[in-house]
Amino acid sequence: MNNRLTNGTVWSDIHGQPIHAHGGHMLFHDHYYYWYGEDRRNEFYVSCYRSKDLFNWEFRNHILTTSTPVAPIRVRTNTKLMNGSGGKVNLERPKVLFNQETKKFVLWVHYENGTNYNDAACAIATSDYPDKHFIYHGSFNPYGYMSRDCTLFQDDDGTAYFISAARDNADLHIYRLQQDYLNVESLVGKLWQGEYREAPAVFKRNGKYYMLTSFCTGWEPNQGKASMADAMDGPWEMLRNFGDETTYHTQPSFVLKRSEQEYLYFADRWNAADYFQSSYVTLPIEFEGDKPVLNNYSALTLERDANAITFEK
Ligand code: GAL
Repeated sequence: MNNRLTNGTVWSDIHGQPIHAHGGHMLFHDHYYYWYGEDRRNEFYVSCYRSKDLFNWEFRNHILTTSTPVAPIRVRTNTKLMNGSGGKVNLERPKVLFNQETKKFVLWVHYENGTNYNDAACAIATSDYPDKHFIYHGSFNPYGYMSRDCTLFQDDDGTAYFISAARDNADLHIYRLQQDYLNVESLVGKLWQGEYREAPAVFKRNGKYYMLTSFCTGWEPNQGKASMADAMDGPWEMLRNFGDETTYHTQPSFVLKRSEQEYLYFADRWNAADYFQSSYVTLPIEFEGDKPVLNNYSALTLERDANAITFEK
């Protein structure tokens, strides 16, 4: 059993294979954490791993690949999973929620054509299982807007939101989703216009909503920022610094609420020269009052008996 993870290394699954789950997301369902993320190898797009303790990860499936079955839905979409020249498209930052009403696992992801970033679209897929093959429903531009770096957030009452970078990344949009999570229902917020926020990660603590974002510098890390709101549709407060000037060399992928007291910042440490050497970093979000603070730690250890995660400087 693995009890220790070193930040900034490529973590391995229980069979010793590198975990391919970049720009990812985690869903806690039926006693397991499911970790979804980008897998850019071969014909793969999104992979899924699961763990009961966040330290021992079992590979489950390539849930989205170039040969994933395609089924149109009521939203008119581009259903191609290969581009015109027979190459792969580009699917980034996959996020998955479970819809209690439809019992479907619904995935949203950033879609590009594989050649450039001009499509700036989002795409949707669904499954009856968290970790089996998904069905692809295609990509689209919500209300015609550009949509790049993205995340999903599910509120306590099941209301879900899709947050994505619009207008060539200048603005960050918050869309409330329809009840089945298969379309946007309303554009409820346009945040920080012209401030170029990327890599959004949302969580809720003590009734307040928090959003972490990075600035827009490609694979290079930059100063993270945090904001708080009393409601998802705002008003969101002005951005304030979170972590150091490179956010300890990370870019947010998601925040996991492990308990009422414990919020874990999961991030990518991208390797611009070799994407496959990109590694993972997990840090505790510490709070000064209601203000989130990020300090740097080199490793995390699971104290199995106490079910506690401790961080080493
Ligand atoms: C980052 C973004 C990543 C990826 C990368 C490509 O800014 O957060 O998801 O799109 O740019 O350069």
